[in-house]
Amino acid sequence: MRIRLLLLLLMCGLMFSVKAQTYQPTAENLKARQEFRDKKFGIFLHWGLYAMLATGEWTMTNKNLNYKEYAKLAGGFFPSKFDAARWVSAIKASGAKYITFTTRHHEGFSMFDTQYSDYNIVDATPFKRDVLKELADECRKQGIGLHLYYSHIDWYREDAVWGRTGRGTGRPNPKGNWRSYYTFMNNQLTELLTHYGPIGAIWFDGVWDQDQNPGFDWELDEQYALIHRLQPSCLVANNHHLTPFPGEDIQIFERDLPGENKAGLSGQDISSLPLETCQTMNGMWGYKITDQNYKSAKDLIQYLVGAAVKDANLLLNIGPQPDGELPEVALQRLAEIGEWMKVYGETIYGTRGGCVGPHPWGGTTQKGNKLYVHILNLQDKALFLPLTGKKVKKAFYFVNGTPVKYEKNRVGYTLLLDKIPTDIDTVIALELE
Ligand code: GLC
Repeated sequence: MRIRLLLLLLMCGLMFSVKAQTYQPTAENLKARQEFRDKKFGIFLHWGLYAMLATGEWTMTNKNLNYKEYAKLAGGFFPSKFDAARWVSAIKASGAKYITFTTRHHEGFSMFDTQYSDYNIVDATPFKRDVLKELADECRKQGIGLHLYYSHIDWYREDAVWGRTGRGTGRPNPKGNWRSYYTFMNNQLTELLTHYGPIGAIWFDGVWDQDQNPGFDWELDEQYALIHRLQPSCLVANNHHLTPFPGEDIQIFERDLPGENKAGLSGQDISSLPLETCQTMNGMWGYKITDQNYKSAKDLIQYLVGAAVKDANLLLNIGPQPDGELPEVALQRLAEIGEWMKVYGETIYGTRGGCVGPHPWGGTTQKGNKLYVHILNLQDKALFLPLTGKKVKKAFYFVNGTPVKYEKNRVGYTLLLDKIPTDIDTVIALELE
């Protein structure tokens, strides 16, 4: 009897892993992946109760705040200045093509109307508005994509199994109740994918919380299948800092461009899936009142270009304030990036990493027979491009069409510039034969 049961379990396991390994994205999904790659630029919004504490989204665990005390923040959450229309127009004007919104971060508070927990913005706050609904409606109205961040961690729920974080929040049972928590997550995901219109991606985070417990099974296959069943073109993304698992449609990097690993979270191989790098505008994801250390517009634009030449999208983060407004400096940066994108967007959107790969001076993007050379940092008036086997028909400054002289040699082409480039990004357009 026991042996039969064991065999059955083994077979189920086998079937499951075969299914997972043979994940075949649908035609809609493959199309959505290409559209995602065309978009190149999105804005990440980290917003939750933590905005009120104004020290970032990890405060609950960093300060070991008791989960019942923390939950009382909800009673005072009234972001009176929240206006989805203003958020979306400011973001749209930056040239971003999608917004990724934190529906439920590690703190466990749902920023949308959910029937599976009262600990949500409609039932637990005096504000009583479904901000996600307002955001989703506005995104649709203004024609910008909506992606949803969803945490696998929950420092509030008693059924959430403890990982390496959130251990000091006073929850009574380290073992939790996986079945109950897993069902809860899938119920919420079903709400997210059925109540808010088309969702571009579900962006998971937190699998790394069990990295000291390698046998832990998050049962992702079934969760991913649920998402694809509900919305076949919804892309599954997971910020687990590993090479993608079967069932995932894009690969994420955190605080580093693909192939770089300065922040220490991006040592994983680069896959053939569409890529996205997320990065903060200042130094924190959630609102942090003392962090006015915003990256300059130049740095942000160069980062966006750096992502594009590496064939990746940039997901640039803003932490909205507790009153519901986006920080003033963030708004300024959005406007500055937008001005640049108005002029240079054509060399970014819809392109792919070009045939001359990333170099310390910059790199290239490509669309059809147009190669855009993005010069970010060059000390010379000449630039060598290892364009072997390619023929250049024409070269000009993208910004004004002025021709650029060039010389062909055995191993490529040398562009002869009229001065050492000093712009944020000097773009030379090449027409290839
Ligand atoms: C990390 C953090 C989280 C943040 C995320 C964004 O994984 O846990 O707070 O939301 O990165 O990439």
